[in-house]
Amino acid sequence: MVIFIFAIKKIFNMANELLKGKRGIIFGALNDMSIAWKVAERAHEEGAEFVLTNAPIAMRMGEINNLAEKTNSQIIPADATSVEDLTNLFTKSQEILGGKIDFVLHSIGMSPNVRKKKHYTGLNYEWYKQTLDVSAMSLHKTLQVAKEMDAINEWGSVVALTYIAAQRIFPDYNDMADAKSLLESITRSFGYHYGSDKKVRVNTISQSPTITTAGSGVSGFDKFLSYSENMSPLGNAGSIDCANYCISMFSDLTKYVTMQNLFHDGGFSATGVTTAVMDKFGE
Ligand code: NAI
Repeated sequence: MVIFIFAIKKIFNMANELLKGKRGIIFGALNDMSIAWKVAERAHEEGAEFVLTNAPIAMRMGEINNLAEKTNSQIIPADATSVEDLTNLFTKSQEILGGKIDFVLHSIGMSPNVRKKKHYTGLNYEWYKQTLDVSAMSLHKTLQVAKEMDAINEWGSVVALTYIAAQRIFPDYNDMADAKSLLESITRSFGYHYGSDKKVRVNTISQSPTITTAGSGVSGFDKFLSYSENMSPLGNAGSIDCANYCISMFSDLTKYVTMQNLFHDGGFSATGVTTAVMDKFGE
């Protein structure tokens, strides 16, 4: 029987209970294209129990209810810029899940300047502050609230999603590039303190461009997706594979990885040029 179940799992590429017994909080599942949605599905398959959260305004779309039903999880609305909401989130999550948290996915990004098509050299500064608050400072707030409440178990793992525009200029990424730089810096700085004090690890995963609601908001996204595909030896990494990487980062298989920015991009970040791109310039 055991061999039979193992064979079935192998055939259908099913779960290995990598997160069995672990409790999590997953931010940012808006619809079934969201990277966080895939992470929730995979975490459920791997035996985790978790709470889903998103900004109250995003709840209005209602799609998250389908995910909650499918993964047998509860939803706690929280604006990730509000310390009060985050405190409530960590308090209720521990009550619902019956103990401290083992993993957190920060999958949050939003820029009013991108949405309203402001050029990087003509930013609205109130919106710029919102970009930084929602997309980066929210990670600091999440970590600070969790640490002050001592809400995350030793060897717990926090992963935030980022993009290579933190290191290199991608003009249409606009002020989100600055937010991602800050996000990665917070990851290193907080990762140091949380690691030394409580053995909690903090990392970012730098993902290939992916078709989602946030991704498609960047102008010229389709052309860019194709450029990136041609510039990556393995091609663009998809959202399910990103979810798999997140699962490995939440698992005990990566216990000593912390304060890192981890590229999940098919090799894009280490590539100068590819023959596929060179060929487009002719002989
Ligand atoms: P998405 O649009 O599905 O997810 C973004 C989420 O942020 C949404 O669920 C939205 O409701 C949430 N959010 C916005 N403001 C919030 C607030 N104040 N409080 C709480 N949640 C809030 O798009 P996607 O692509 O799944 O984005 C997830 C993460 O992945 C983001 O950090 C994004 O920058 C990052 N990423 C995306 C890439 C892409 O090409 N799609 C590439 C690399 C990184």
